[in-house]
Amino acid sequence: MPSEIEATYEQLMARMRPIYVLRSAASITQWDMETMMPPRGLNLKSEQLALLSVIGHEWLVAPEIESLLKRLETNSALASLDWVSRRNVHLARREYDDEAKLPTELVEKLGKQSTIAVGIWKRAKAARDFSIFRPELEKNIELKKQAAEILMGVKGTKTQYDALVDQFEPGMTSERIGEVFAEMRDGLIAIMKKVEGAQVKPDMTIQSRKVPIKAQHSISAAAMDFIGYDTKSANAGGRLDETEHPFTTGYYDDVRITTHYYEERFSSSLFSVLHEGGHALYDQSLPSEWMYQPVGNPCSYGIHESQSRFVENMVGRSPEFIAWFTPKLRRMTGKALIGVKLKELVRAMNAVVPSKIRTEADEVTYGLHVIIRFEIERDIFADKVKVEELPQVWNEKYKRYLGVDIEHDSEGVMQDTHWAGNAFGYFPSYALGNIYGGMFLEKMSGEVPNWRASVRKGDFSPVKTWLHANVHSKANLYDPADLVKNVTGKDLEIRPFIRYLDEKMSRIYEI
Ligand code: CO
Repeated sequence: MPSEIEATYEQLMARMRPIYVLRSAASITQWDMETMMPPRGLNLKSEQLALLSVIGHEWLVAPEIESLLKRLETNSALASLDWVSRRNVHLARREYDDEAKLPTELVEKLGKQSTIAVGIWKRAKAARDFSIFRPELEKNIELKKQAAEILMGVKGTKTQYDALVDQFEPGMTSERIGEVFAEMRDGLIAIMKKVEGAQVKPDMTIQSRKVPIKAQHSISAAAMDFIGYDTKSANAGGRLDETEHPFTTGYYDDVRITTHYYEERFSSSLFSVLHEGGHALYDQSLPSEWMYQPVGNPCSYGIHESQSRFVENMVGRSPEFIAWFTPKLRRMTGKALIGVKLKELVRAMNAVVPSKIRTEADEVTYGLHVIIRFEIERDIFADKVKVEELPQVWNEKYKRYLGVDIEHDSEGVMQDTHWAGNAFGYFPSYALGNIYGGMFLEKMSGEVPNWRASVRKGDFSPVKTWLHANVHSKANLYDPADLVKNVTGKDLEIRPFIRYLDEKMSRIYEI
């Protein structure tokens, strides 16, 4: 690398570094707001968060960054960079364009409007009254369409909605998602029907047996021990707290998770801890030599979700994990599981029951909840559906895909915070995570055929090592489709995920 280009590249990296440091500070400030902050701190906290985001924005769109990028983007400069450095230049350009091309005024309006909309959404949801939320949702969408129109030009996508999806899942298009989801829908509905016809039925009372919160703390600790998410040692990089909606946040050496505890649904905290723990392991095991560089970030939201759902479902809900964990569970839960056979517990933890609420959905029906949201979002941004029609469209799709009747809009179109928070384009990532996970599982099962036997003995390390080598250590070296291809040798396909679910449910439901 000629020394002048090397120096320019180093300057660019030196300019990116404080942006990631600042973002990590913002993420812990956000965490504080959700977990520890006393009530009176809210206004100050929103000032802190707004300031951090303004500073981060200004640092990123600085003219110096643009001029460094331009000097590095000539053919001869690019040719002299190694491929990790080229990737860094590419990713810095993408970050720069995504922020710099939107007028500051629009960014401010979007931020303020979504804060207001979330507040009103909470009120409307409590009142079960969509008409309270409707005007705010209309304003959200109008502003988001303006942003999407600009991003469409920046990213060169075919539609506005593609530009939004691309922010979460770079390189993915709604056309491709539509194809994959259509195939997934048929596969999921077939498994759902098969399970409905099974002779054995899950005992839904098992999971609602009362387990004191204190015992659930021990269950969480045992789950974290199993995956090796360290919150206790002198060198720990994690911690666990409580929030209504579990989440993961942080950067490299300080990645925190939260969970929630319900006395009458102990498995909810167990699987939340495994899910968020799966996110945290990814963030903690990104390559340290890439810390503070664009390439040292996770690949995409969908890939992130593939890691959490892999740990939660493919490992955590496997008969092998439950078999290993159950003796501990019996000890920790006192009398709660007396008389419950292992087989019954496995079936209860994998019960397939069409429901109205996405976040409570099982592994099979979950994808259908996501498809509904994807189809509606795509139609909103193609001007095919009006906001006032959304409740009806929502309810019809729930009836058609899941066979459930929505009784009011709080369990219908207003159940999620995403549209209030203006995160259009995010939902597909959840289902893509499952699909990626299915492909990773197939590949891992070929390379580590004894992983189930290891999990049965309480040993997660073969799975963890594989995920680290194939996904975590590659960080943001590839866009998601290329990462999947790099790991599995294949383009995105739905079959491995459907096959995994079909085999698992056939075994558990004895069909
Ligand atoms: Co998640």
